[in-house]
Amino acid sequence: MQTILSATQLTALSKQAHRFGKRVGFVPTMGALHQGHLSLVRAARTQCDVVVVSIFVNPTQFGPNEDFTRYPRTLDADSAMLAAEKTDYLFFPSVEEIYPQGAATWVEVETLSGKLDGVSRPGHFRGVTTVVAKLFNIVQPDAAYFGQKDAAQAANIRKMVRDLKFDVEIVVCPIVREADWLAMSSRNVYLQGEQRKQALVLSRALQRVQELTAGGEKSSDKLIAAGKEVMAAEPAVKLDYFVIVNPETLEPVADVCQGVLVAVAAYVGITRLIDNVVLPTQ
Ligand code: PAF
Repeated sequence: MQTILSATQLTALSKQAHRFGKRVGFVPTMGALHQGHLSLVRAARTQCDVVVVSIFVNPTQFGPNEDFTRYPRTLDADSAMLAAEKTDYLFFPSVEEIYPQGAATWVEVETLSGKLDGVSRPGHFRGVTTVVAKLFNIVQPDAAYFGQKDAAQAANIRKMVRDLKFDVEIVVCPIVREADWLAMSSRNVYLQGEQRKQALVLSRALQRVQELTAGGEKSSDKLIAAGKEVMAAEPAVKLDYFVIVNPETLEPVADVCQGVLVAVAAYVGITRLIDNVVLPTQ
């Protein structure tokens, strides 16, 4: 695996791969890698000839009071894991490489950026779509791999790709969970003592919704109420949202017949966690 710091060099390598008829797969990350990230790298490895992974803790997707400075940075461990997965190129740019002095151009999906996490994290999705657009221009991938855990992020990216006509296939891979069903996240390392157990309430609430829909319940209002009741039974966890929405538009849906996203976000202490399930069309 070669580590590349320069955007120009990475673009040249990608162009060279394309000249040889190779398919380039790209996994954008912020590092602090876990099995969820590695599942994306494995999917890219299976479907593509050349695999590029980026590690860039993107400052523009963090709010002023969020965890940008303390976000875990574990480059040595990450590099070892990526090399073991036969990654070809690790792109590890500096902030200046991605946001040169005076950079003033943003990419924002105006109909989606203020929804779900965009409510309590204003500017977050604008930061995500801006950096992903830049990374796509640098890496020029044929396919890019994202995790279903960040379902609203995936919706913003799919829409950006359609609207701006990026020639990239977006592949969204299933959530990878711990044995006790906690969704894997780089932020799980923040959970202290009891909080690790309290965090399980998110997946428990989603499982309750799945059980009720399996039993025939179709009303989103009732399912949301049931999910919130499970959340309320863990008072140490502060609910941000519990919603049932269309996975593309992120608009609320009244009944769950149509294939919906059930998504939850909550604070465990100061750690914000998200999780979701997709209910199939009934
Ligand atoms: O999902 C993430 O890790 C980040 O939001 C991404 C897509 C790498 C953009 O910084």
